[in-house]
Amino acid sequence: MGRGKKRRRENDSEAPRTMHPRNRYAAAPPDFAALAALYPSFAPFVSVPAGGGRASVDFTDFDATRELTRVLLLHDHGISWWIPDGQLCPTVPNRSNYIHWIEDLLSSNLIPPISSSSERVRGFDIGTGANCIYPLLGASLLGWNFVGSVGLLFVDVTDVALEWAKKNVESNPHLAGLIEIRNANEAPCCSKSETVDEEPIRENTSEAVDNVVRSIPPILVGVVKDNESFDFCMCNPPFFESMGEAGLNPKTSCGGTAQEMACPGGEQAFITHIIEDSVSFKNSFRWFTSMVGRKTNLKLLASKVREVGASVVKTTEFVQGQTARWGLAWSFIAPRKMVIRASIPGKVHHSFMLQGHRHICGAFKVLKSAETFFCASNLSCKTDSVSFSIDVTIPDEQTQAAVLHGDDFPGAVEDNSTKPHSAITGTSFRISVFEQIPGTLLIRGSLLNKALSGTFSSLFSQLEDTLKEEFCRKAR
Ligand SMILES: C[S@@+](CC[C@H](N)C(=O)[O-])C[C@H]1O[C@@H](n2cnc3c(N)ncnc32)[C@H](O)[C@@H]1O
Repeated sequence: MGRGKKRRRENDSEAPRTMHPRNRYAAAPPDFAALAALYPSFAPFVSVPAGGGRASVDFTDFDATRELTRVLLLHDHGISWWIPDGQLCPTVPNRSNYIHWIEDLLSSNLIPPISSSSERVRGFDIGTGANCIYPLLGASLLGWNFVGSVGLLFVDVTDVALEWAKKNVESNPHLAGLIEIRNANEAPCCSKSETVDEEPIRENTSEAVDNVVRSIPPILVGVVKDNESFDFCMCNPPFFESMGEAGLNPKTSCGGTAQEMACPGGEQAFITHIIEDSVSFKNSFRWFTSMVGRKTNLKLLASKVREVGASVVKTTEFVQGQTARWGLAWSFIAPRKMVIRASIPGKVHHSFMLQGHRHICGAFKVLKSAETFFCASNLSCKTDSVSFSIDVTIPDEQTQAAVLHGDDFPGAVEDNSTKPHSAITGTSFRISVFEQIPGTLLIRGSLLNKALSGTFSSLFSQLEDTLKEEFCRKAR
């Protein structure tokens, strides 16, 4: 699945510098020699250099990659797992990053829980595949509940994905109660699919495909049941239009059939379908998310999400081995009104530094993230990408509440009092981003409306936490 931006060689045998901090492989990569000693079936796939040094695995060998995944899931997660030859083989450290990003989204509290949410987090994995990796990891790492959907583009081939996803769940009785595998092709609207004789995505595949479904099978509409609600959906979509386009990476062998890797229109069409479906479930999902394989598609899809009226859009970058992937998240639920607490009164200027890799921490990217932060807090922003500054205006309603509370008293802006007040308008403060030296940015906040000094301090400190979390963590 290698079409993303090329990165320095970094496979599971090297220190994974870009792992999510809570990824269990963030501090140290798997020790292949130790695993080989514990699991004899893994030993034949592990080579130790003659003169000593780190043991390695041949990632161009599908059997080796699959055995490594099996052993890591068993040893580190207590999961019994297998897939038949040729099916898409997930790498455990990479797939864990997406799970932890969703965990961050849920715990950010930016979007309040949906009213019908239960105690246990409930997720919907679109296209769980034979490997069923996300439900298995999410259930074992975090105790999440999952529906994993299986949808097939070629309706007449043996249903390997459905059969093996179910087998992988049943082999883990301790998790089985948390995971439901659902057949998207049995959705009521599936019967509308048009069968044709051509074979649009058959290139480079030896599978017998006589009839194919021209359109993508149902994704959410028709598959999600009435009255169901979920904290999130996730998806590792079929990235490619054809297996030829997939151009399998010769340095790795993760398998993957045409059923799994390709669909008409590629990831752009698939994720657009999710976006369109999401409009029908505005209040049934707290977050919609998808992995995106190409940065150009990320921008385009983020615009589509805005066009359909999402209230919040978030993106992230996953660096996975040699390739980069992106995460796109959106929600239609109104973000929480920010609780503005006045903690450090009086200061007119605040600043902090962001230090990191130059590419990751570009000034424009930081400016856009700061803009997203303020917009998500319902503040209006005027961004000037020439001077790298944002003028932020606190709406009258919030301004007045802050002023009524003296701004320097702790209190939430929602609590608008009945005391008389004078309206305050105009820009409240300005945020500027300066590149000090390559890789180091200075973020400076200047208060323009002195009545709001406490509010300004509080917001600026939250901005600092958000940007440091987003940019400095990635750069480590
Ligand atoms: C790239 S694979 C991802 C498999 C697995 N989630 C992983 O991360 O390894 C994409 C999966 O989506 C499935 N798929 C395609 N269309 C679908 C649909 N409409 N509903 C559900 N799954 C679908 C494919 O069959 C394939 O298993």
